[in-house]
Parts: sequence; structure tokens; C-alpha cells
Amino acid sequence: MKTAIIYATSHGTTEKVATQIQSELGSNTVLINLKQTKTIDLAPFDTVVIGGSIHAGQMQGRVKSFCKKNLVELLKKRVALYMCGMNEPEFESELSNAFPELLRKHAITSKSVGGEFLFEKMNFIEKLIVRKVSGIDQNVSKIDKVRVTELINDLKKQNPDTCSN
Ligand SMILES: Cc1cc2nc3c(=O)[nH]c(=O)nc-3n(C[C@H](O)[C@H](O)[C@H](O)COP(=O)(O)O)c2cc1C
Repeated sequence: MKTAIIYATSHGTTEKVATQIQSELGSNTVLINLKQTKTIDLAPFDTVVIGGSIHAGQMQGRVKSFCKKNLVELLKKRVALYMCGMNEPEFESELSNAFPELLRKHAITSKSVGGEFLFEKMNFIEKLIVRKVSGIDQNVSKIDKVRVTELINDLKKQNPDTCSN
């Protein structure tokens, strides 16, 4: 059983979560950053985890395009979905807009796992937007460890190659 964790990240938080999932799932799991890999052959993978973050209410464009382009093939695999974001009241609607409905219904699990504001990685405009919209002006980490663990356990549960502890 081979797993691909396919993600897009602006400031590294979605990648951080992807790395954590990879370390829990073990050596048959590879990380694929959509910014660095243009064409992905999904054939070797029976499980595909897709992650991305929300900016101005929208999932990363690279994640949306990947899901749209590969929808038919993804529907034949075990799929898990996650999104990073900081606007908790909107998580439910952000998650449902983030991925195609068919893919969400097919997925064994889909989670909003929180996020981070990392000001040193933001450009001038991003800093302005975050300060104005959230009132926050310093780094905050609100990755929801419980949800990340739930996601990992959902993946382990249905994968006979990994033990669920
Ligand atoms: C300019 C900007 C806009 C954002 N807009 C939203 C938003 O609309 N909804 C939300 O839940 N989070 C929003 N966030 C929070 C990001 O989703 C969060 O920082 C996430 O951890 C980024 O993950 P990444 O570094 O992997 O891209 C925004 C962050 C920035 C910097």
C-alpha cells in the first residue's frame, strides 16, 4: 500500500501537517508539493491525501486544479482531505467549498486542521490583510492536534499496513 500526500502551501503550515502525517504513516508514504511537481502519476498510489490552505475564503488554486484534473482517477482510490485555515467560524463552509463535492463524499475522512499566522513569511499586503481582518499582528500557531491525530487514525484504520495505536 503506497500513499501520496499531495499539497500546496504558502507559508509552510500545510507542509508541516503533511510531514506529520507522513511520519505517522511510515516509509511507504511520499510527499508531493504541487508547486514543485507539475505532472503527477497517481498509478503507484492506492491512498492519496490532499491538503491545502485557505486564503481570502478560497482553497489554493493548485489544489483545486489538481482535484479537478484528476477527479476520475481519485474516485478510484482511498482519499483523505484536509485544509488549513484560521477563520474557525467559516471552517465548515470553507471545507465544503475547498474540494469537489464528489471527492468529499468519496473521501474516507476530511478535516479542517487549523493553521498559523507566520508574519515573517507574509508579504506586505498579506500582513495588512491579516491585521485588518483578524486584528492579530504577531505569530500564532493554532494547528488542531486533535483533528490531525483523528485524520491520521482514520487513515491507519483502513490501512492494514500501518498499526493504529
Ligand atoms: C492573506 C491571508 C488570508 C487568509 N485568509 C483566510 C481565510 O479566508 N480563511 C481562513 O480560514 N484562513 C485564512 N488565512 C489563514 C491561512 O489559511 C493560514 O495562515 C494557513 O495556516 C496557511 O497555510 P499555508 O502556510 O500552508 O499556506 C489567511 C492567511 C493569510 C496570510
